[in-house]
Amino acid sequence: MDWLYSDVVKDHFTNPRNVLMEEEANYPCDGRGQTGNIRCGDQMLMLLRIKDDVITDARWKTYGCASAIASTSMLSEMIKGMHIKDAYQIKPEDLVKKLEGLPDSKLHCSVLGDKALRAAIDDYLEKTGRQNLYKVKAVEICHCLGVTDKDIEAAFQNGARDWNGLQKATKIGTGCGECKQKAIDALHSLEHILG
Ligand code: FES
Repeated sequence: MDWLYSDVVKDHFTNPRNVLMEEEANYPCDGRGQTGNIRCGDQMLMLLRIKDDVITDARWKTYGCASAIASTSMLSEMIKGMHIKDAYQIKPEDLVKKLEGLPDSKLHCSVLGDKALRAAIDDYLEKTGRQNLYKVKAVEICHCLGVTDKDIEAAFQNGARDWNGLQKATKIGTGCGECKQKAIDALHSLEHILG
């Protein structure tokens, strides 16, 4: 059976960069972000060191799959030396491009890393008295996976038109499942608004 991943993905999966090691339990960080839910099998922790709003170092840890590991490893390399404003704008598509692609069924795995990154930057901004500086006001629809109305809109723009498409893009509803109707309603509204 052929290996479905690019050489870049293989490299980052077998030799992930900037993983938080056991002995670094007290890694001193300026921003800490966590997303996902261990009950759903995916959880991501991102720790950032930041000086003058520039990311100087990062550590991360996940219980995710090969694609989540490779995506976050790549992300942790990309953000070093980057201003937090630019890092905040990184999208899963940027990671997939850098990784030279991911199998379609694995695209959603690249979502956790950038969510944890934004959470870590938000944490840093809060600590420095600048809450919500970059935050576009978003409403959380799925509390287990931290999927917001903005995420649903992005998935819609990328072609998600039903529950399956939405799940594929965001992993929404893979915890308690209580968000399903709300998410479907949000999709229908988008259909009306955006067509
Ligand atoms: S709120 Fe639990 S899976 Fe969405």
